[in-house]
Amino acid sequence: MLPDQSGFYGGAMDSVRVRPMREGDLESAERASAVTFLAADRLSRRVGAPEPEPRSAAGSKQWIDRMRFFLTVDPDGCWVADVDGDVVGFAISQNRGRLWYLATYGVLPDHQGKGIGKRLMDAVLAHADGRPGMFSSTVHPGATRRYRLAGFSLHPQMHMVGTVDRSTLPAVTGLREGEIDDLAWMDRLDRDLRGAGHGPDHPYMLNTLRLVVSRAKGRPGYVYLGDRGQAVLLAAAHPRTARDLLWEALASARGDTLVNCVTVANEWAVDVGLAARLDIGQEGYLAVRGMNAPAPYLAGGHFL
Ligand SMILES: CC(C)(COP(=O)(O)OP(=O)(O)OC[C@H]1O[C@@H](n2cnc3c(N)ncnc32)[C@H](O)[C@@H]1OP(=O)(O)O)[C@@H](O)C(=O)NCCC(=O)NCCS
Repeated sequence: MLPDQSGFYGGAMDSVRVRPMREGDLESAERASAVTFLAADRLSRRVGAPEPEPRSAAGSKQWIDRMRFFLTVDPDGCWVADVDGDVVGFAISQNRGRLWYLATYGVLPDHQGKGIGKRLMDAVLAHADGRPGMFSSTVHPGATRRYRLAGFSLHPQMHMVGTVDRSTLPAVTGLREGEIDDLAWMDRLDRDLRGAGHGPDHPYMLNTLRLVVSRAKGRPGYVYLGDRGQAVLLAAAHPRTARDLLWEALASARGDTLVNCVTVANEWAVDVGLAARLDIGQEGYLAVRGMNAPAPYLAGGHFL
């Protein structure tokens, strides 16, 4: 679908307007996102898995903060569907150099299946303007249908969960805490692995996450760790560095941990997880278009 003269997607008679997101939409979009993903998590919950929890107040605040950042850096990639001023759908994407990524995408359950998702996807793909693209996809049948029809390859993702058996932890040397001066070589490594640096996403992550780096000669790498020590995003020039960085993450994990977004191109991560006695599960897809699934690389769900 092409935008009309005012840049909106959808007919004038249509009560649903697909339009660029504005700062004032953030709270309404967050509410729509919390409801949409809670319902989707309930639908895809496996037998025996814990009941999905509503998003916490801290989670809502982080969502709004992250979307405000996306709106500031690349507003033209951020779209909402609104009915009488209330957000009923959203598609937040970003261009970073030659790479496009989809940060989040959803339509409220009682508005799904009416073509709103297609209109939002048309808008963000127009913004991509043919760039190679990457994002982490749920298993929602409407989502996967949309993505494959848009030319994305769906690489099944594994995750690994459990409590690390600390007796398996090897002695890892040559790592140190990362800092702002590391971001330039990290962007170069990103370009080698995924065609574009994270650019402004790195300082954002550095503010909110712990960064551990390796400057091993000829095989640099980095990992961002979440507040429970879990690996959130990992990139390395060589599987040996990637393994060291993942072991460091597992060593700093507190309680149950999670290693996410593991594609089959990253079996080095499966081997580390199994050695640490984590369990392998399967979750969603890494969707890529115009590029291979990166390796050695564990994509971050938010910044890819
Ligand atoms: C994915 C999502 C945004 C799509 O929005 P939507 O408004 O329902 O999308 P559309 O109505 O444009 O439909 C998308 C396509 O999938 C199909 N579809 C929609 N819901 C479906 C379902 N439950 N089962 C099977 N197919 C479905 C539609 O028929 C349509 O295909 P078509 O255009 O070839 O007929 C929405 O379903 C959603 O929010 N899902 C839950 C959250 C989620 O998983 N988001 C994706 C994150 S990666």
